[in-house]
Amino acid sequence: MCGIIGYTGDGRREAAPILIAGLGRLEYRGYDSAGLALQTEHDLVTRKLAGRVAGLQALLARSPVHGATGIAHTRWATHGAPTTRNAHPHVDCRERIALVHNGIIENADALRSALEGTGHTFGTETDTETLVHLIEDSPGDTLEARVIAALGHVVGTYGIAVMSADEPGKIVVARQGSPVLLGIGEDEYFVASDASAILEHTRSVVHLDDGDIAVLTPDAYHVIDRESHVQLRAVNDVTWDLDAIELNGYAHFMQKEIAEQPDTVRSTLRGRLVLDEGIARLNGLNLSPTECAAIRRITIVACGTSWHAGLVGRHIIEALSQIPVTVEYASEYRYRRQLAQPGTLTIAISQSGETADTLEAMRAARAAGSRVIGLVNVVGSTIARESDGGIYLHAGPEIGVASTKAFTSQITALGLLGLYLGNEHGLPLEERQELACRLAQLPTLVARTLELEPQVRVLAEQFAHAPNALYLGRGVNFPVALEGALKLKEISYIHAEGYPAAEMKHGPIALIDANMPVIFVAPADEVYAKVVSNMQEVRARGGRIVAITTEGNGDLGTLADHQLRVPATASLLSPILTVIPLQLLAYHVAVLRGCDVDRPRNLAKSVTVE
Ligand code: F6R
Repeated sequence: MCGIIGYTGDGRREAAPILIAGLGRLEYRGYDSAGLALQTEHDLVTRKLAGRVAGLQALLARSPVHGATGIAHTRWATHGAPTTRNAHPHVDCRERIALVHNGIIENADALRSALEGTGHTFGTETDTETLVHLIEDSPGDTLEARVIAALGHVVGTYGIAVMSADEPGKIVVARQGSPVLLGIGEDEYFVASDASAILEHTRSVVHLDDGDIAVLTPDAYHVIDRESHVQLRAVNDVTWDLDAIELNGYAHFMQKEIAEQPDTVRSTLRGRLVLDEGIARLNGLNLSPTECAAIRRITIVACGTSWHAGLVGRHIIEALSQIPVTVEYASEYRYRRQLAQPGTLTIAISQSGETADTLEAMRAARAAGSRVIGLVNVVGSTIARESDGGIYLHAGPEIGVASTKAFTSQITALGLLGLYLGNEHGLPLEERQELACRLAQLPTLVARTLELEPQVRVLAEQFAHAPNALYLGRGVNFPVALEGALKLKEISYIHAEGYPAAEMKHGPIALIDANMPVIFVAPADEVYAKVVSNMQEVRARGGRIVAITTEGNGDLGTLADHQLRVPATASLLSPILTVIPLQLLAYHVAVLRGCDVDRPRNLAKSVTVE
């Protein structure tokens, strides 16, 4: 989604290069236009354009702007086409106020009519422009007072940064539903929608809460509420390194993140397994043994890849703890009537911790009386902060738009959670020890699975021009089929569908012919023989079969055209391995098709609008 960065300093440094570098760090979020505004001695100057940050940088090189305070934005169009005019920052009628905004102003049409009625002239089609005209019209002695007064008329979500030519050196920031954080430097302060934009300057960040207004000047910052009462907000340290958001020799972040998985899975497990007792230590859950024993049902809410992880989690948790689990699309769940069911635990799964639908689903569950825990990667994100407890994935920043390492860490965390709940709900010691042991082996097995890459690359050449693909799996590997199809379609734009293997004969079988690649996720598990029957059904209709199966498993002979073999592990954990060849396949197909792997069209990394 849109990205924000702002900077104010004591004059030692120019703002423009800091803003451009910050926008570059935010590129992974997905955007279609970029812009910035700088305070010069007496004025505000903006530069913006439809297209990439590199274009904005070139524009600035041709017509430079100097100043020590500025705000900048990458836009992902919602209201109004992705044109230069619609790019942020937006300015008021007198060009004395400039503003960047993430989120959606729901009453923008009504506000716009009212403002046009009182003589304001709009230059764009965006909902955001209403905000800057509202501030222009609002009373107050300071910019923050005028921003607070303006926001009183607004319905919607926003993270904003605002400057006025009349108050040099000042940036006012406000948050309601769209993440923004402050960066604390020495005689310089930053605002950003994401810590990666400012990490090269400071590791000290302040996460704002909804309703917060922050005022930054070169020598100080403070946070107030809508009544101008000062609010104290903790300063947190970002723990990951700049390396984590650099390519370090890889061609794409997706490739780097696939390759990192032995380490990221290890990091999710670190310090959490006690092998001889067969238990998982998950202190962050904040669940007492009594509360844990009282859990009668679990609802998982999530979107996209995280929802697929939730489907795997259902198998794991039900098998280990006997607690019934339902898995819901967060976007559907939030608008359904919630039935208050005592003993319900809701688990929100989100890499970013900022997905709007997941956040609202979690709030709806809480309103219905459920306890809520988060399985989140980004530390300090909104879902993490609003949960009663949770498990951080510790997978490091995921920059590639297509989620890969977060998925395997989510399933690893669900394995830990299953073990934890199993212990509290009567899973025998030997079974717990066995699973703990299998979990501990995962980083090594993930590394071995990655050795399939040369084979997958060859296979990708044969599939790169297929118009469609079908992914089939059963049981705990049906969600892997869904995930494999999602990966392929989102980065290579090949239409792909994931289906339960046996369900195929109720419809999709009609699609099968010699041109249809069918990828079976078929490790040696309880349903393997059934999946082999489904392969025969495809074979009989001339389909081309790729089978992801287990090392040492009987030969599939002529049934499959290609076999990719992953190491053996516990069936419940097999998705962590079977998904890896599918991630690699999607990656190599997309590269061969010349697609922009890390920034697929129309997609954004963190979907902060519903
Ligand atoms: C797919 C993908 C998306 C996300 C979804 C949820 O590769 O990345 O489907 O999984 O937008 O995002 P989070 O996990 O941040 O809530």
